[in-house]
Amino acid sequence: MSTPNILLNVNGIEVIYNHVILVLKGVSLQVPEGRIVALLGGNGAGKTTTLRAVSNLLAGERGEVTKGSIELRGERIEALSTSDMVNRGVIQVMEGRHCFGHLTIEENLMTGAYTRRDGKAAVQATLDKVYAYFPRLKTRRSSQAAYTSGGEQQMCAISRALMANPKMVLLDEPSMSPSRTPTWRCATPTTATSSRTAAS
Ligand SMILES: Nc1ncnc2c1ncn2[C@@H]1O[C@H](COP(=O)(O)OP(=O)(O)OP(=O)(O)O)[C@@H](O)[C@H]1O
Ligand SMILES: [Mg+2]
Repeated sequence: MSTPNILLNVNGIEVIYNHVILVLKGVSLQVPEGRIVALLGGNGAGKTTTLRAVSNLLAGERGEVTKGSIELRGERIEALSTSDMVNRGVIQVMEGRHCFGHLTIEENLMTGAYTRRDGKAAVQATLDKVYAYFPRLKTRRSSQAAYTSGGEQQMCAISRALMANPKMVLLDEPSMSPSRTPTWRCATPTTATSSRTAAS
């Protein structure tokens, strides 16, 4: 069996918040190209911190990677900015959805395509694909996000990430939703997309 290409390689990282709070020690994981990796652990285990380390969102929380290395396709990425990571196709869907409440569902989705340079037709094709994954979003496309349900907002947040045409999606608590049905609907298309890689 051939060895899959390693897209993400987290090697023995240590993360400290506020210069003193040691949260992660010796965390290692690999994400092969086109595969899904799930990160499991109890509350406070460090799942969100691990994802923040990968997408370089730690600085905003006064956190830093103090040991170990993180490589994306063999390139060290700890020193890059969050926008550099987005330009390399790494998109994080943060815990808690964070939709723009005053924008419609479709306007929220279009913000995900902001960094794309491959033209309107390609963006429209992704929008059609996202609506095929989540027909509920198409129904609610003109609704203000603040007035949609928690599950619909979760679908919106995941779909907004897909609108960036990402190489890797980091999903933090993707199943966190007030009802089981939208949770299942969110999970299915994401896990079924074999060309994507997700960590949750
Ligand atoms: N900004 C921060 N400053 C200081 N400590 C933090 C910060 N964010 C998280 N921590 C601490 O780091 C530890 C890991 O938190 P983290 O949010 O990564 O856990 P988690 O596995 O995602 O938990 P949950 O399942 O509850 O989402 C916790 O002890 C938490 O208190
Ligand atoms: Mg968390």
